[in-house]
Amino acid sequence: MTGRPIVLMLALAASSLTLTPASAADSAAGKAIFERTCENCHAVVIGVNKVGPSLWNVLDRKPAAIPDFAYSDAMKANKQPWTSTALDTYLADPRGDVHGVKMFFKGLPNAADRANVIAYLQTLK
Ligand code: HEC
Repeated sequence: MTGRPIVLMLALAASSLTLTPASAADSAAGKAIFERTCENCHAVVIGVNKVGPSLWNVLDRKPAAIPDFAYSDAMKANKQPWTSTALDTYLADPRGDVHGVKMFFKGLPNAADRANVIAYLQTLK
C-alpha cells in the first residue's frame, strides 16, 4: 500500500512530459544558431539594420517591409509573406529561392536547424 502514491506521482510526471514532443522546434537552440550564422548580418532589435534588415517581428511580415533598408529588386518583387513555411524554403537555399537576393549566405541545409531558427524568430515580437 505504501508504494502507491509514488507510482501515481510518477505516472503524473510522465504524462506531463508527453506534452512536449521530442521533435518540437527548440527556440533556445535556434538562438544559438542565429548568433553563430545570422547575427553578423541581422540585428533582432526593432529599427537596427546591418548588412541585412532587422529581423524583429519577421514572422508573417511581408518581404522587403523595412522602409529604410535597400533591398534587392528580387526581394521587393517577392509578395509571399514570411510564414514559417516560406522561411523554411528561403533559409534552405536563399539565393535559389528568391532569385537575385542580396543575401550572400549559402543557407542552412539541416531542416532541424531551420525549424529551430524559425522558432527563435517567432519569439521576436
Ligand atoms: C552575409 C550576410 C547575411 C547572412 C549571414 C544572413 N543574411 Fe539574411 N539577409 C541579408 C541581406 C543583405 C538581406 C536582404 C536581401 C535582399 O534584399 O535581396 C537578407 C534578408 C533576409 C530576410 C528577408 C527580410 C525581409 O525584410 O524581407 C530574412 C527573413 C533573412 N534574411 C533571414 C536570415 C537568417 C535567419 C539568417 C541566418 C540563418 C540570415 N538571414 C543570414 C544578409 C544576410
